[in-house]
Amino acid sequence: MTPTSEQVALHTAWFLQEELAIVRRAYAKQMLSVLGVTDPRVEAAFAAVRREAYLGPGPWPIWYLQRRDYVPTPSDDPVYLYQDALVGIIPERGLNNGQPSLHAMLIAAAVPRPGEHVVHIGAGVGYYTAILAHMVGESGRVTAIEFDGGLAERLAANFAGQPNLRTLKGDGAQIEFDPADVIYVNAGTTRPVDVWLDRLNDGGRLILPLTSDKGFGENPENIPIQRRGAVFGIKRRGNEFLAKWISAVAIFPCEGARDAGSERALAAAFEKGGWEQVTRLYRRGDLPDEQCWLNAPDWALAYA
Ligand SMILES: C[S@@+](CC[C@H](N)C(=O)[O-])C[C@H]1O[C@@H](n2cnc3c(N)ncnc32)[C@H](O)[C@@H]1O
Repeated sequence: MTPTSEQVALHTAWFLQEELAIVRRAYAKQMLSVLGVTDPRVEAAFAAVRREAYLGPGPWPIWYLQRRDYVPTPSDDPVYLYQDALVGIIPERGLNNGQPSLHAMLIAAAVPRPGEHVVHIGAGVGYYTAILAHMVGESGRVTAIEFDGGLAERLAANFAGQPNLRTLKGDGAQIEFDPADVIYVNAGTTRPVDVWLDRLNDGGRLILPLTSDKGFGENPENIPIQRRGAVFGIKRRGNEFLAKWISAVAIFPCEGARDAGSERALAAAFEKGGWEQVTRLYRRGDLPDEQCWLNAPDWALAYA
């Protein structure tokens, strides 16, 4: 019996999805391997989540470092999304869907476990939110916060009807949320804001990108990335906060989480080097300078 044109179309669509699933499995392995991540749960999440489902229809603008510009993908074939590339969400503002290999490393450092509550700040349109949701599973939940109104609407639409996913429009440095096991911040701050430290459960992990004012956009002075931004992993242990440098970073600024005093302290700390020796975050500004990598007016990142 000759298949109907509808059957042929269905079969083709199914075949393309199967093909993409294979591409995604290879992509997941490669994204983890770039920075030496070996967590099989992170790999499974990257293999499962469809990037095109969150970014909307293509062609998509891909940022190419060699050209220092966005280049549209040749077509709307989602296969082009499965590479280690920034994809422009609002290219004219330099606002991108972040680099998969960096997120693979940061998500592995955050260790989102089944059943946990993750708060994602600066969620954009939700690709990495979906990866976090995959990792906490149906017994866990994710609260995703996005500042930009248009993106927050797209974020809400992308997760409509998903019971364990709450999306909020607003300033993630101000909005109060339920206590969290993981707070995953995806925009450049100059300091850890109080609500994040207050709302971190005992044993909880905060992924905190700290950027100087040179941490995003043009870089005419050619300052190396290591002196512009750093992501720290902060772990709460009772009333103490353990801190560990994870990576250098250049990232879009976080509204509401930047202040001049902390920026000065951060720029001085980057100038001096030694971020890998940081072990603790303190919520006070009276520590001796020799104990600190960064000594801001009311907080510090210290060696002991
Ligand atoms: C580098 S983009 C990352 C977007 C998303 N995580 C991704 O990779 O697709 C940073 C995002 O943080 C958002 N943002 C900046 N400040 C924020 C704040 N205070 N609260 C919530 N979102 C914020 C920006 O609007 C932007 O969408």
